[in-house]
Amino acid sequence: MAAVRGRFPALAEGAAHFDGPGGSQVPVDVAEAVAAAMVAATSNRGRVTAAERRADAVVAEARLALGDLLGADPGGIVLGRSMTQLTYDFARTLAGDWGPGDEVVVTRLDHDGNVRPWVQAAEAAGATVRWAEFDRETAVLPVSAVTDVLSPRTRLVAVTGASNLLGTKPDIAAITAAAHEVGALAYVDGVHLTPHAVVNVRALGADFFVCSQYKFLGPHLGALAADPALLETLRPTKLEPSMNAVPERFEFGTLPYEVLAGSTAAVGFLAGLVPGEGTRRERLVRSITALHEHETVLRDRLDTGLRALPRVHVYGDPARDRTPTALFTVDGIPPGVVYERLALAGVNASAGSFYAIEAARSLGIQDTGAVRAGIAPYTDESDVDRLLTGMAEITA
Ligand SMILES: Cc1ncc(COP(=O)(O)O)c(C=O)c1O
Repeated sequence: MAAVRGRFPALAEGAAHFDGPGGSQVPVDVAEAVAAAMVAATSNRGRVTAAERRADAVVAEARLALGDLLGADPGGIVLGRSMTQLTYDFARTLAGDWGPGDEVVVTRLDHDGNVRPWVQAAEAAGATVRWAEFDRETAVLPVSAVTDVLSPRTRLVAVTGASNLLGTKPDIAAITAAAHEVGALAYVDGVHLTPHAVVNVRALGADFFVCSQYKFLGPHLGALAADPALLETLRPTKLEPSMNAVPERFEFGTLPYEVLAGSTAAVGFLAGLVPGEGTRRERLVRSITALHEHETVLRDRLDTGLRALPRVHVYGDPARDRTPTALFTVDGIPPGVVYERLALAGVNASAGSFYAIEAARSLGIQDTGAVRAGIAPYTDESDVDRLLTGMAEITA
């Protein structure tokens, strides 16, 4: 832990960061990779000058690294500014052949980034939106909630790999299989899942899987993984002279090369969390498995500690398969006040609905929100204890 934490200059400020689900802190390795790409001679991508080849290599390396991280074909990695931007782009493209009578499934558990683009695209196409509801007590989205609203007219199922608000993880493999059975595509929001789990897009059965590098120690960027053969069938609107090859067909304008270099460095950093030999994918699997174990121990310590406090209500069922993210409120103290008082104690755990607005509405907390505490690779036991001590003082 000391070695890992030592790579994060931001930790020197002294705060305990539980705001990772909103955006993680960044290791110096990533910042150095961004800086190195910016000071090296650079140019638009090409094959003639060294600068052109460097830009080309940065893009190719970013796709390879993300392919290794996600268990996906690097030739189907589409790079974009954020998950939200990529999802809006793909919603517009996919909705191009939807019409009245067609149906799209979204869930109440999802971040709005995997809801509103589909709802708006469906409205524009005259298609119908069907909603899958989660269980308010357990915070679980059962597979049946999705299968109940599937029909032969379902064109797409949009579902989250993990809730950024409640941490629960729907059974994605079962949901994508059910979607495929009725001939629908599955679009999986992996933004909150990817920092906490070994992802294998093929095993999950996701036709599209989106993530955001700034949630897993990287710079502000998003990526989508899909089978290149599927991408070949799609025709986004694009500039006439821009590349029509896959995946470039879906990448609008010049890519941020320096940020892509940082993205590759973030994947490399994750792969190196546990020292050892092997391919980058093998090292990623080993490191993220170890990270998962570390985060689970801290999650249980946090969860047990919070639930032992008087007046604290922790959402969801601790026994469920969840990311290390806790959502809680305190009877009689507004979440915004808890957030401010924790900040005074050097604990960053903000309050809100975190754009999971449908989930917040379902829980009745859309106006006040709740406090969210997420564990990240640099979180240690003393951070968790600081949060629990702060909460003990607030609730005393
Ligand atoms: C689960 C989830 N999906 C989507 C998003 C949106 O990601 P981006 O900021 O890359 O658009 C977030 C951001 O918080 C998220 O947590």
